[in-house]
Amino acid sequence: MKILVTGGTGYIGSHTVVELQAKGFEVIIVDNLSNSSIEVLDNIAKISGKKPLFEKFDLTDPEKTETFFRLHNDIRAIIHFAAFKAVGESVQYPLMYYRNNLVSLINTLQGMINNGIRDIVFSSSCTVYGQPEKLPAREDTPIQKANSPYGNTKRISEEIITETSENEAIRAILLRYFNPIGAHETAIIGEFPQGIPNNLMPYITQTAIGKRDFLRIWGNDYDTPDGTAIRDYIHVVDLAKAHVIAVERMIADKSKEKVEIFNLGTGKGFSVMEVIKSFERSTGIHLNYKIMDRRPGDVEQVWADTGFANTELGWKAEKSLDEMTASAWKWEKALAARR
Ligand code: NAD
Ligand code: WQD
Repeated sequence: MKILVTGGTGYIGSHTVVELQAKGFEVIIVDNLSNSSIEVLDNIAKISGKKPLFEKFDLTDPEKTETFFRLHNDIRAIIHFAAFKAVGESVQYPLMYYRNNLVSLINTLQGMINNGIRDIVFSSSCTVYGQPEKLPAREDTPIQKANSPYGNTKRISEEIITETSENEAIRAILLRYFNPIGAHETAIIGEFPQGIPNNLMPYITQTAIGKRDFLRIWGNDYDTPDGTAIRDYIHVVDLAKAHVIAVERMIADKSKEKVEIFNLGTGKGFSVMEVIKSFERSTGIHLNYKIMDRRPGDVEQVWADTGFANTELGWKAEKSLDEMTASAWKWEKALAARR
């Protein structure tokens, strides 16, 4: 059975392709390589023994997208990862983010409608919850006004999919990721942050390898046990496996609603300081850091209620924080060895 993975050469997409292949799915990737590299295809093949089919084009192009769907009329379901994801960049270039993230989704949905494809899994984000009043965040926790154009594209995308499904033969599973980190155990695929990383984990590993002088901890005056902000970090392979389960659920007609929403996290929150401690514990490396002011737009603390994903989707994150930080470090070392 053929699954289209848009953004499949990216960080989460590549790990998901490997897990899909392991379950016997045939994968076709569409990616314009705006934030990933063609070598990922060979790297996927090194792990799985099978190079996925690949088409390079920009999903914001309606003609190319429609032509693609006409040519590939045996696609059973879609996992739609393709999007820009840098929060700060989205504040600087909002139109670029709205155009890329929304138009690529609209063209993909149009392709589904025109070509009779029913099922789509969509990459959403815990960013839609903002700072929830009650923790942990449940799928019915009220969505808040987004604090960046990027976050807004996720909220609007959820609405576009939901409204489209009301009158079209489309079903969806919206997966709200918490903070994906780590890399495949082989260290053959992982995350490629462009330039100076914004996210915590790549900043930690780049500091440890000597590419950055020290980690800046954005604030230690939050109302948390050690004063640093709390997030729900999830291993990217656990996350990838949830996508396979979501696709299987849709194909087997097990969805209970036209649009279902699941949180993907571990259900446990860790502070920035606890992540640093875990990194030091799992690698034996001492990390340089300095405490700075809070980063504008950051929420204080958020973690997932994963009960619905556990019981209804039948999925549970398995990897510990130490396994996540250890695998991120193994990947950083593998990247350094490649250069
Ligand atoms: P990524 O940048 O590594 O992967 C996205 C891929 O999409 C890239 O390979 C890029 O080249 C491709 N792409 C972007 N725009 C495209 C277009 N118009 N046409 C074709 N290809 C295009 O990002 P990721 O971390 O793997 O994230 C995947 C998805 O998950 C994104 O939708 C992201 O917003 C979402 N998400 C990510 C995180 C995170 O922390 N990484 C958290 C929550 C949600
Ligand atoms: C985690 C914690 C920082 C870097 C972002 C997006 C969100 C989602 C995931 C896509 C925070 C602190 C970080 C550093 C630090 N992406 N930190 N020093 O902000 O939770 O979420 O990525 O949907 O939408 O906003 O993740 O990894 O940037 O930060 O102290 O150098 O680490 O302040 O508390 P965040 P992050």
